[in-house]
Amino acid sequence: MADLNELKEAAKSLRDEILNNVKDLANSKEAYELRKVFLDSKQGKIGQLMKEMRTVPNDQKQEYGKTVNELKQWAQARFEEVDRAMKERELQSRYEREKLDVTMPAVETVPGNLHPVTQVREELIDIFASMGFEVYEGKEIENDYYNFTALNTPQDHPARDMQDTFYVSPEFLLRTQTSAGQIHVMEAKKPPIKILSPGRVFRSDDDATHSPMFHQMEGLVVDKHITLSDLKGMLDTFVQKIYGENTTTRLRPSYFPFTEPSVEVDVSCFECGGKGCGLCKGTGWIEVLGAGIVNRKVLENCGLDPDEYSGLAFGIGLERIAMLKYGINNIKLMFESDMDVLKQINDQE
Ligand code: PHE
Repeated sequence: MADLNELKEAAKSLRDEILNNVKDLANSKEAYELRKVFLDSKQGKIGQLMKEMRTVPNDQKQEYGKTVNELKQWAQARFEEVDRAMKERELQSRYEREKLDVTMPAVETVPGNLHPVTQVREELIDIFASMGFEVYEGKEIENDYYNFTALNTPQDHPARDMQDTFYVSPEFLLRTQTSAGQIHVMEAKKPPIKILSPGRVFRSDDDATHSPMFHQMEGLVVDKHITLSDLKGMLDTFVQKIYGENTTTRLRPSYFPFTEPSVEVDVSCFECGGKGCGLCKGTGWIEVLGAGIVNRKVLENCGLDPDEYSGLAFGIGLERIAMLKYGINNIKLMFESDMDVLKQINDQE
């Protein structure tokens, strides 16, 4: 038979052991593990102590049971208290860690923007699409026929000197103008034709206003009875939409082999309203594009009867429009990706 006093001693030392161990706990997980050591229903030390009941004489069982039960209740309460304290401490330290200082300046996010040429391109497509134009994307590598010969610029024609060409082989070249697309469209489709053809073009040309690669937007309308006044009407609508309602255009005689008559189109200065300023060099007008009535020979080259059909064509330089719009005086700035320049451009939006 076990001695009741000894057992009571054992209960007391368990209690001391708990008190000692609890002091060293670092977190709620450790507290949970420690609780198991004493209070686990199967292996717990207090449970083990209770099992000693069978060795206690019957008349002492009640007292023994009471002692162990008290220890158990005390331990449960103690561990609950410890658990609560640990969790509270952990919560506080999490609050501390995740504390936000709302007075800190926000991290600045710099939104990206479309390139100014892309913006102008999209704006122009919107404007002409509203007049019923469809977009046709031509090819950047063309042969001599589409870029020159079919456009009424045969070999040895002096107009070839107007555009210094990059040849990739004796037969193929980088297109010098989106006009090459006109021929493809007229070969493929019977009038009515109303297309807009944006794209990159290439010329061996390099100064403050010329870059070896730049963008053009070609317009071509072919139908019965197309005249120069249709051209003027469309261009007026176009400049009014981008430069404002009071803007107008002026056509000056010019020369392109593939249009007859050919015109250079000026827009009334949107900076000074035509009075004369630095931007229009005192003239009140700014040159924006080349255009004309499609040359009869070009229609014939594409198998169209020039007595039945007539057409108008125009070619807009997108960098030029963007430079005028954003007040940029050197075309190189458009391609250097200088953040300061791009930021200034976008700030104007
Ligand atoms: N292709 C001409 C150029 O690049 C522009 C143009 C297009 C002129 C259409 C008339 C008609 O200079």
